[in-house]
Amino acid sequence: MEKDWSTEELLKWDQDHILHPACPVGQNIGIVFNQGQGVILQDIEGKEYIDCASQLTCVNLGYGRTEITNAIVEQMNRLEYTTLFFGFSHTAAIECSQKLAEITPEGLDHFLFTSGGSEGTETAFKIARLSTKKHKIISLYDSYHGVTLGSLSATGEGKGTEWHGLGPLAAGFIHIPSYYCYRCPFGKEYPGCDIQCAKFLAETIEREGRETVAAFIAEPILGVGGTISPPPEYWPKVREICTKYDVLLIDDEVMTGFGRTGKFFALEHWGVKPDIMVMAKGITSAYFPFGAVAINNKVYHSLEGLTISAFTYSGHPVGSAIAVKVIEAYIKDNVLENSATVGKYALDRLNAEFKSLPCVGPINGLGLFIGIEVVKDKDSKTTFDPELKVPMQILARARENGLLIRGRSIADSPGDRIALSPPLIITTEEIDRAIDILYPIFADIKP
Ligand SMILES: Cc1ncc(COP(=O)(O)O)c(C=O)c1O
Repeated sequence: MEKDWSTEELLKWDQDHILHPACPVGQNIGIVFNQGQGVILQDIEGKEYIDCASQLTCVNLGYGRTEITNAIVEQMNRLEYTTLFFGFSHTAAIECSQKLAEITPEGLDHFLFTSGGSEGTETAFKIARLSTKKHKIISLYDSYHGVTLGSLSATGEGKGTEWHGLGPLAAGFIHIPSYYCYRCPFGKEYPGCDIQCAKFLAETIEREGRETVAAFIAEPILGVGGTISPPPEYWPKVREICTKYDVLLIDDEVMTGFGRTGKFFALEHWGVKPDIMVMAKGITSAYFPFGAVAINNKVYHSLEGLTISAFTYSGHPVGSAIAVKVIEAYIKDNVLENSATVGKYALDRLNAEFKSLPCVGPINGLGLFIGIEVVKDKDSKTTFDPELKVPMQILARARENGLLIRGRSIADSPGDRIALSPPLIITTEEIDRAIDILYPIFADIKP
């Protein structure tokens, strides 16, 4: 910076001039980051934080990777930008599509590039409508698919807050209950429930008219909505229903993709192949805003001869070059294996040490995507008064102690949830440090 400003001056300028997403206008949290290395961030006062949130669950490879920053400079120096519009191409996009085709499920190897996740889900809806000549999109109540008007219309999570004052939203978006067994929206108990949450999709398609429903979109594991996994039968059943009714299955892997759950894509855990898959975040490990929508052969052939529009920066050469380097790093450094093993280690430790605490409900996770529910009363599963914003209190205490985590307070079904989603290169020693910081915070929560 040109001037040598104090922290107070920087924060004051920030408060007056920067509008922060998901934060009341005119406020900030009082931290100004300045540098990062591995899983550690440092603010301008030199205080260190273990980033067990990977920011917005996107810095999958951690901070300060010079092989990636070198690739950025190299691509910038060679060709900083040309477009893929009108049929023009460039080598970085071709190489990126080849790399992606190596790791995406077999057959899902046609790509339309974006600059992020919302653009991806938005594009997926348009592709689904063009491909099927139908228009309705079904999604889950606790889902998060982005903030552009289409993706927001599909988003079900936080309806009261996220949608507030933004309506009317797009027509043709229908929401159905999610798959959280601990708080089953159908009041049933797994496994005697006959996977009612999946079957409700079939009932909804029939009620809406199968000739009108283009697609069903969901996250393989609810992300923003609480880091919640479905019962094992859910995804195979959903695949069966989508095939039966000729409804496209859109897999939103924006948060769960690229090793987050120990596999490249989370839906692989259930052996299910979508028709359309949306990727962003980990695709470049947040070194550049970038994303991609993959479509299978069936959808691809249905689009032949049509034109689909996109964004000025769709297929940006720098994003493409970074995606190549990042995917190479996932493979070369055994990042998926680390995510699975350190994730399992953390989950076992949390289950062994936190579960008996009075206000800790279910703890679940796959890879380094772990959720902890906070409850006022374990037997009745009663949640704390939402006004108390218990997850936000936990996040604030964690920050004070040098730990960044994610949390969500939702008045309706999924309850108060805390999420751990550190960079996938985190070591057991580093996750131990994080858990050691968390334990007294959770132990202090009183019913
Ligand atoms: C599952 C999912 N889909 C879509 C999005 C939107 O992505 P973006 O913020 O890059 O627009 C997110 C962001 O968190 C997400 O978690």
